[in-house]
Amino acid sequence: MSDYFLERFSKDLKAKLVDILGDHYDFDINEAHPKTGAHLAVPLFGVAKRVGQNPKELANKLSQELGLEWVEKAASAGGFLNIWLNPRTLAVSLNHDLTINKTYGGSEEGNDELVFVDYVGLNMAKPFSVGHLRPTLQGQSLINLYRMLGYAVVGDTHLGDSGTPFGIWVVGFKLLSSEEALKEGGAYELGRVYTETKKLLKSEEESGNTKLKEEVSTWLKKLEAEDPEALDYQKKFNQITQEHMFEILEELGVRPDENLGESFFLKRSKQLTQELVDKDIAIRQDDGSVIVTLKEFGIDTPILLEKSDGTALYATTDLATIEHRLNNYDKTPEKIIYSVDLQQRFHFQQVFALTKKLGWAKDTELFHAWFGQIQETNEDGKRQKMSSRQGAMYIRDLIDRAMEFATKTVEGRDIGFEDIHKIAVGAIKFNDFAQDRKTNILFDWDRMFSLQGFSGPFVQYAGVRIKSILEKLQEDVAMAQELSSDYNFIKEDRLLLTLAQYPGVVKKAADKYEPHHLATYAFDLAKELNRYYEEVNIINSEDKEKEARVWLLKLIYKTLESSLGILGIQIPSKM
Ligand code: ARG
Repeated sequence: MSDYFLERFSKDLKAKLVDILGDHYDFDINEAHPKTGAHLAVPLFGVAKRVGQNPKELANKLSQELGLEWVEKAASAGGFLNIWLNPRTLAVSLNHDLTINKTYGGSEEGNDELVFVDYVGLNMAKPFSVGHLRPTLQGQSLINLYRMLGYAVVGDTHLGDSGTPFGIWVVGFKLLSSEEALKEGGAYELGRVYTETKKLLKSEEESGNTKLKEEVSTWLKKLEAEDPEALDYQKKFNQITQEHMFEILEELGVRPDENLGESFFLKRSKQLTQELVDKDIAIRQDDGSVIVTLKEFGIDTPILLEKSDGTALYATTDLATIEHRLNNYDKTPEKIIYSVDLQQRFHFQQVFALTKKLGWAKDTELFHAWFGQIQETNEDGKRQKMSSRQGAMYIRDLIDRAMEFATKTVEGRDIGFEDIHKIAVGAIKFNDFAQDRKTNILFDWDRMFSLQGFSGPFVQYAGVRIKSILEKLQEDVAMAQELSSDYNFIKEDRLLLTLAQYPGVVKKAADKYEPHHLATYAFDLAKELNRYYEEVNIINSEDKEKEARVWLLKLIYKTLESSLGILGIQIPSKM
């Protein structure tokens, strides 16, 4: 892997400390506390303890002996070794770093290793609702991250197009809907029918009858037996759902590579279940259902592979999907990442344990990247799970609402639809990455669109402002293709340091499956830039300074664009 500045620096520093201390010790290199005025800080408490020295004395000794090319000054402060970098050297290093990979911050680390991201996960016959927003947005940003790090990534929507909902839908359609209504309402009509039918099933159960329930099961069996009428229904529902899904995904800038739904794996999953029974791994119980025990993995509940009526289950199609991903591509995948709701944790624990039991995926990491809830504040001021009165908040409604807020944000200015749309969707996305993925997120519309706060529009505006400055300085921009002047960059040291941190942030976000680090990063960079504008007037700078500053602005824009891009957020042309 080609190293970026801070990695090179940390290697050199570690080597130097081995020279001085006579042995290898692990330590962190952090950003120094702003009050110190230094750039980097190395806490030496741990090392000092191990070499049996006083941390203060050790820091003192190291500061005198460090003598690294990039270090302008080193001083001890408490048990920290504070380091001042030479800003000019930092700029030259960054200029070099821009050339070592296609994208600054990217790498060839993955070298085309295969990674699957299982995301979106929409269910047939239901409109795209808020429940699938996070799996979609977080999943796409993981795809972007891993691509940037040189992996061959396959994003698969794994549409939920088999199982009980299918039966519910056919029964409901026959009872409650019509071809015309379907043409008119599309996925929303499918959603309505599904909800109504669920209600009918519930009242049937309460009255002790089973007629509808049996019909549902009959349709499921018909589907598994590849009955032509059932297949026709499935094709129709699938088409409507997919059209709707792609329309919304396009609006969200999400472009999956594959859409192999559960039904694609149905046949194989039935065979697989039988194979496992034949091998005595799975047990066919007296009522006909099939289970596999997972006690040896500390899971008391066995995994259910087939119901007593012989139909396959969610876990069964997931198992067949894993088999497919492991064997049907030109490489064994390095990872299969599931960008799926928190509620499915137990499901994935079971499925992953089962693959272990079968001896599969020995060289593949299976990882469930789950998230917290999307919440809103209710009338009593309490946070609660977001939903509409009808039961599900549709993404269509969310985007429309966001469009209203975005329009208000740019009120009075001549801003086109596309830019407003970028602001609307940008605000929704940024909010999704406002905290680590496990934390519940709040839809607070005013805060999401605040131009002063931690929001998408705030960061987007920083980008728009750079573009407008660069437009005013067109001639200088043409000149500053690369860093040529010998400008000292003293006023720019913080910005340079922030830029130098970018590759590390990308790496950390991918390693931890936490794209939200990019949101925090983009925000910090934008804030740092605002501070800089207050201090420096770029347009009125001297030639030599201006050239260097234009070079820097271009690099900041690229980095802002890249970090937001990973989150799927675009910078508008005007706002
Ligand atoms: N359709 C599922 C749901 O809505 C999500 C699918 C997740 N992916 C998977 N391979 N199980 O809950």
